[in-house]
Amino acid sequence: MTHPSSLIRTIGIFDSGVGGLSVLKAIRKKHPSINFIYIADSGYAPYGSRSAEFIESRASHIAHSLIDAGAEVIVIACNTATAIAVAKLRATLTVPIIALEPAIKPAVALTKTKVIGVLATERTIESQTVARLCAEFGHGVNILLQPCPGLVERVERGELSSDGTYEYLRKLICPLLAQHADTLVLGCTHYVFLKSAIQKIAGPDVHIIESSAAVARQTMRYLNIDKANSLNEPTGNEVFMTTGSPEHAQTLFSQLWGSPVKVLALDNPVAP
Ligand code: DGL
Repeated sequence: MTHPSSLIRTIGIFDSGVGGLSVLKAIRKKHPSINFIYIADSGYAPYGSRSAEFIESRASHIAHSLIDAGAEVIVIACNTATAIAVAKLRATLTVPIIALEPAIKPAVALTKTKVIGVLATERTIESQTVARLCAEFGHGVNILLQPCPGLVERVERGELSSDGTYEYLRKLICPLLAQHADTLVLGCTHYVFLKSAIQKIAGPDVHIIESSAAVARQTMRYLNIDKANSLNEPTGNEVFMTTGSPEHAQTLFSQLWGSPVKVLALDNPVAP
């Protein structure tokens, strides 16, 4: 049975890897008292070049693991898992699901040149979700869809500011700028950790937008609480888990989270 939203204490959140930490950070800022369980499916990342069946099966397994660990709501902090698996998860799970989509609608509202670029994984770029968003909100705007194979892996390796990553980003972004894109959508939660490199390449006049703040607002609305109320409650905690190597994760999580964290191995990383 699901709880009334005002009684919810524990949110489960997952991504194929560390990208969803960008979403967790945004939600944590607004929810000082909620407990979070975060699972990075790093042992099976990236999702973005895999089959729909693979992504659905991983998303289902990780969502069940979160529920087993006590999650009362699940946030899918992964554009690819949302695009491919959210309908099935909503149809099969007993807990509410909050998900995120590339921020194409706000980008269309912002662009002056009427050209926007969308950076995302291959699976997200070719998904029905992106096709729907373009059809629904893209009228009169040229939407340049740019798949970024290999970029998630760079973030998973912690190569946020390496020369190789910067050069690769230039290859992806310069053609969009040459076509006068003045707004770039980061349609993958991993890319949020590359935002400053992307802004440097694109220049200060290009808008770079992503969905983490919108997901945080949506979560807030769903839980029907405001920050002022939750400030009187005990501070919540975060439990971090991975299906990959906890030793590797520990360093990267701490770097991206901004303070040292302990990362546990997920007990049942492999789907039955
Ligand atoms: N952070 C995931 C997303 O938002 C990355 C997917 C992947 O592993 O390729 O799409």
